Amino acid sequence: MFAKRVDKVAPFRVMAVLERAKQLQSEGRDILHMEVGEPDFPTIQPIIDAGIDSLARQQTGYTQALGLPELRRAIAVYYQERYGVTLSENRVVVTSGASAALMLMSALLVDPGKGLLMADPGYPCNSQFLRIVEGQAHKVAVGADRGFQINGELINQHWRDNTIGVLAASPANPTGEILSLAALQDISAAVKAKNGVLVVDEIYQGLSYGEDCHSILEVDDDAYVINSFSKYFGMTGWRIGWMVVPEKAVVGLERLVQNLYISTSVTAQYGALAALDLINRPMLEARRKEFGVRREVLLNGLKALGFRVDYTPKGAYYIYANIEHFLKKGGWADSEAFCFDVLEKYGVALTPGTDFDEHSGAYHVRFAYTLPVEKLKDALARLKVAVDTL
Ligand SMILES: Cc1ncc(COP(=O)(O)O)c(C=O)c1O
Repeated sequence: MFAKRVDKVAPFRVMAVLERAKQLQSEGRDILHMEVGEPDFPTIQPIIDAGIDSLARQQTGYTQALGLPELRRAIAVYYQERYGVTLSENRVVVTSGASAALMLMSALLVDPGKGLLMADPGYPCNSQFLRIVEGQAHKVAVGADRGFQINGELINQHWRDNTIGVLAASPANPTGEILSLAALQDISAAVKAKNGVLVVDEIYQGLSYGEDCHSILEVDDDAYVINSFSKYFGMTGWRIGWMVVPEKAVVGLERLVQNLYISTSVTAQYGALAALDLINRPMLEARRKEFGVRREVLLNGLKALGFRVDYTPKGAYYIYANIEHFLKKGGWADSEAFCFDVLEKYGVALTPGTDFDEHSGAYHVRFAYTLPVEKLKDALARLKVAVDTL
């Protein structure tokens, strides 16, 4: 009855965890949510005010498909201010979140039967966007020893006849790993040598602790950048993001946006303008610092409990921990069984690695530190009981 592609689109396994967590909560249980991939802070007030103000000014129509000119300009200025990259605003495309940007990128670049190389573990939806355009995700298994990231050597090793490029992410989900400037250069050189396209998902940029994030645009002007107001700017529900693309790609993207969804929400675009206003940056930076404190607490706490974190996650708000030894001791079949058991017995909701990772997800779990420090400490105390009883 429905098209075959729908059957092939895999569901998020974490949704089953979330559903059970909500059910337990409705029965009165105190559940600590560490499975959710969005900031727990509400959008900062100046952004909300800008959205409300735009509505009061009756800004309620469609906008240009590529986005409000003033927002495209502000995004270009942001690259100058943050990364020292000079960018024509003509290369900026405003989208309905990074999700729409990833879908547009797949539609623009990937013919049926062609594929993009990407790290496994990685963001699970990438495979699904490619599947919808009859393309393929060419997954490359990477572990903690390689910082869970793809590199030039792996690109050369895994490039297939039907590979057209690479999709990388920095900071990455689920690992929080950052690509250094040298790593970005290495990837860019390998892709250029293959005459391929390079797409870098920079949605968690701005959320880094100790090491600065770099944009691929600092080293490669031909790359396609995916970004969003969801994470650093705390606007997940507004549904707004952007792409920076080579000038030649803009016309095709404009046609795709016009046809697929006409334009991004005008209210969200006015909110995004306020998000980029430097006057509001200290509020966003205060949140980043708070995430940094949480990261320290959780990372040290998990290591003390024996969770194996064989790398130092430097960005986003995730820690990807190896639990193979716990599974063996506790007799759990895999990370999903572990997550459900920990949820039922201790009220801590985690995401099984199987959502992100075909090769080692069965023995990894993702922790999101989207909880205040006191609650993280509570979660660690509950997890201590879980591992002490093994
Ligand atoms: C790596 C990555 N890319 C893209 C997205 C999509 O984000 P949004 O559509 O909210 O911008 C997410 C969401 O969690 C993500 O983790």
